[in-house]
Amino acid sequence: MEVNDVKIYEYDAVVVGAGLAGLAAAKELKEAGKKVAVITKLHPLRSHSGAAQGGINAALGAEDSTELHEFDTVKGSDYLGDQDAIELMCSKAPETIRWAERMGAIFSRTEDGHIAQRPFGGQSKPRACYAADRTGLTLLQTIYEQAFRAGIEVFDEWYCADLLYDGKGKVKGVAAYNIRNSEPAIFNAKVTMFATGGYGRAYKINSNAHANTGDALSIVARRGLPLEDMEFVQFHPTGLGGSGILISEAARGEGGRLFNSEGERFMSKYAPNAMELASRDVVSRAIMQEIREGRGVGPNKDAVYIDLTHLPKETILTKLPELRELAITFLGQDMLKEPIMIAATAHYSMGGIPVTKRCQVKKSPDETVEGFYAAGECSCVSVHGANRLGANSLLEALFFGREAGKAMLEDMEKIELEPATAADAEPMIAKVNRIKGNNGEERVPVLRNELQESMTMDAGVFRTEESLLKQKQKLQELYERYQNIRIDDKSHTFNTDLQEAIELGHLIDFSLFIVEGALAREESRGAHYREDFPKRDDENFLKHTYARFSGDYELDLSYGDVVLGKFEPQERKY
Ligand code: FUM
Repeated sequence: MEVNDVKIYEYDAVVVGAGLAGLAAAKELKEAGKKVAVITKLHPLRSHSGAAQGGINAALGAEDSTELHEFDTVKGSDYLGDQDAIELMCSKAPETIRWAERMGAIFSRTEDGHIAQRPFGGQSKPRACYAADRTGLTLLQTIYEQAFRAGIEVFDEWYCADLLYDGKGKVKGVAAYNIRNSEPAIFNAKVTMFATGGYGRAYKINSNAHANTGDALSIVARRGLPLEDMEFVQFHPTGLGGSGILISEAARGEGGRLFNSEGERFMSKYAPNAMELASRDVVSRAIMQEIREGRGVGPNKDAVYIDLTHLPKETILTKLPELRELAITFLGQDMLKEPIMIAATAHYSMGGIPVTKRCQVKKSPDETVEGFYAAGECSCVSVHGANRLGANSLLEALFFGREAGKAMLEDMEKIELEPATAADAEPMIAKVNRIKGNNGEERVPVLRNELQESMTMDAGVFRTEESLLKQKQKLQELYERYQNIRIDDKSHTFNTDLQEAIELGHLIDFSLFIVEGALAREESRGAHYREDFPKRDDENFLKHTYARFSGDYELDLSYGDVVLGKFEPQERKY
């Protein structure tokens, strides 16, 4: 790859990522007549938003209220969520659903024709609007059609590898290359948005697509910008035994019950009121505790059962058809006839690129970067705090994605396009050529496997100072060994060897943020559970973590205020 080959594209706006958040923003911009490029390493319809199964929250019925939705979200977040952002999102949720419906999203219906809603964990009312168990896919297809109709330009199978940030306060686009032929390019724009999704692939057992390697997080951090609350990684209670493939919370929402090897419905010990519908962090820990104490099932005793056999056959066939198929395909277990094996699986990142309610990226708790926006799972706004409620992520992606589009539209009138040159692609090209030219002994799959296994073991559902220090040391070792990798494919065509090597670098980078944030946070809150500090400590830790690189592979940590509001922090019980 050479600087001479760099093409320079000019746009009003460039959006990286083509899931719900990215496409919602791009559609908004394009419909206002702007020139918009969407860069994605996959085809948009393969974005991970499409894997969200169970639903999207909105307080629609007379029995529910947006205030109750807010309260459940604040409580679910273990009071770390910013209440101004939560209020905004929950109050706009009904409008967001109507917007999706007007665009053509087909939701499941009640007999009298209303949008059907199912119970989800940690919520006081059935609030998750759904399309059987394919809600994310339905929404993704809808918004893709509409964005495509509006005329967005999609650069699919392009890999964004760098952010054009001047280090002071302004972004002027990104550097990317075409995966098909390695053609390097600069996408120069007045406004740039990252909507690249999550990073579950840092863990061995996860529910995430292979593409979820947290690229944007590493790119942003390597440009000297901070990441927020990265220690909060959500483990979904019900991943298929062995693989971690998602078995939607809809299974519990429709009445699924959890049992251990002794036939005990063990949630009665951990959440006597909400039982299986406690929040995800509570249910995941309960499952893993049962397994740790020897009451697991399956050949390795590393799962528990979810039983749906008491449900009417019709419920499973009409509301959970995909889940049934998944369990048959990957475990050979038919939920109509027998309980199926599940265990906690890395699912969602509550932390990410810090942003304001207008989705502007922050360079510190009080300052923003000009021309740079983020939304969806790669960002931290922070509506999920320490633990996200199921079905709030599709809402966040759709609502804040659209908000980002509106903010970009408004701000671009005041932003001058700062021209880019081919030289802006030099750091990306140097990195690609360094990886291709390296002749070391280390192999990418080996390092990735060691990373995923050690993160699962030592920075997973349960953490201690000892486990986290061990993992910090492991990451240091992996970082050093990563400098010594070798890839076999030196070609320019669909070089997945190269891409996986770059992605591994990203995984190693942001894993340090997870581990350092977790080490410093000497309390337990939401998904972050320290066995050596089992209580929440509001006096010392009711605050957001901000971390940034201060050296090659060292971090500086600082803290910022949580936006409190009408809901006073109280002990969380389910
Ligand atoms: O369980 C699920 O269907 C996942 C939904 C979510 O993470 O919001």
